[in-house]
Amino acid sequence: MSTLIRNGTVVNADATFPADILVEGEKIKEVRAGIPETAATRVLDATGLLVMPGGIDAHTHLDMPFGGTTSSDDFETGTRAAAFGGTTTIVDFAIQPRGTRMRDALDTWWKKADGKAQIDYGLHMIVTDLGGAGLEDMDDMVREGVASFKLFMAYPNVLMVDDATIFRALSQTAKNGALVCMHAENGSVIDVIVARALAEGKTAPIYHALTRPTTAEAEAVHRAIALAEIARAPVYIVHLSSEDALNEVREARDRGLPAFAETCPQYLLLSIEELDRPNFEGAKYVFTPPLREKKNLPKLWDGLKHDHLQVVSTDHCPFCFEDQKALGKSDFTKIPNGGPGIENRLQLIYHHGVNQGKLTLNRFVELVSTAPARIFGMFPRKGVLAAGSDADIILWDPAADHTISAQTHHMRVDYSMFEGFRVKGNVRTVMSCGEVILDGGVFLGKAGRGRFLKRQARGGAWT
Ligand code: URP
Ligand code: ZN
Ligand code: ZN
Repeated sequence: MSTLIRNGTVVNADATFPADILVEGEKIKEVRAGIPETAATRVLDATGLLVMPGGIDAHTHLDMPFGGTTSSDDFETGTRAAAFGGTTTIVDFAIQPRGTRMRDALDTWWKKADGKAQIDYGLHMIVTDLGGAGLEDMDDMVREGVASFKLFMAYPNVLMVDDATIFRALSQTAKNGALVCMHAENGSVIDVIVARALAEGKTAPIYHALTRPTTAEAEAVHRAIALAEIARAPVYIVHLSSEDALNEVREARDRGLPAFAETCPQYLLLSIEELDRPNFEGAKYVFTPPLREKKNLPKLWDGLKHDHLQVVSTDHCPFCFEDQKALGKSDFTKIPNGGPGIENRLQLIYHHGVNQGKLTLNRFVELVSTAPARIFGMFPRKGVLAAGSDADIILWDPAADHTISAQTHHMRVDYSMFEGFRVKGNVRTVMSCGEVILDGGVFLGKAGRGRFLKRQARGGAWT
């Protein structure tokens, strides 16, 4: 099957231009003005639409056991919701339980995705243990296309690893070309503050935020970058939430270090007051790092504009309010940490970034697609509209009005963090590897059609 996308405005990270796109099979064959209609068996008219590379969400948690429960979207519902928002690739996280081999974790996550994923997916490996064959396992993962690892400086006794483990992991990536992603919060100090709060009877959701100071994030970011510098490896800070933490990344980058960071829509658009909602509704906004004071928000937008931050991902980790967030009704530390967002990333960043003049259209594409493709070893297969790339293409209607709501969203979760947010600009058509999987609000994809993406080591963080 061949498809011609005609009369659209093509937007890549480096250029915007009127052009047609010819797709043959799974790949883009040609991008230029004036491709004749006769070249294809099917024509999609993109008059008045922006034609952009599909979104890449480099941080999702589907079907993930966490906080005594499991995130409510699995690979079937989560990737379907992603497509509804114009995302055509995700990178999810497999978890190595302590004392086990990473290959077993990889097998477990492949099984979770098998027959379910509706768009292409990659995997990072969460490392909890480098004893035994841990370093060999990291090399093994890289050979399998799992070219990035996440390590936690938070959640003592659960996921947190010590500095020696972080340094050993970073040193291994200096050899095998993978990328370490850091959850940067000083978990040991936070645990002391949390214990004090509980001892004082402070159990409501707001204390989740009040016990996790921005300094604890900034200290961990600083330490992560210092360890990476000693190991001579790049490092990528996930879900960066505050100005204090951002300053650490900016200073490192100004010194020429290969330090990278992402933030997420929730940190750009919401603030700490959400956790103080009555009737336990603050629990809907319990994730880590927590929401911060409002003054941080413009700093993060500025960071995106000036490339102090390179990526916007979602950290999609949904838990239903009624029966999952409720686990922490009498103790905020028992609220499963995480929030939903896989469906709304492009809508929110386009509306609040491009429409409101904070980001150019090209920077928008870079943040939501091209940069994650480069940094995580998928470029130029993904993240650009060019001959030879996968035909992951979205047709975007800049005039479409949409109101975000749990009543109409496709994520399997009973609330939206952005309930009632009105956005202008939304996806009209989504093509994944040459197949139209969404058109005019009608889903045409199929569970199991999405494939595991083997990602390359020595991606953009190394060059
Ligand atoms: O609260 C969060 N962010 N949950 C997901 C796990 C993580 O730390 O990314
Ligand atoms: Zn994290
Ligand atoms: Zn996460």
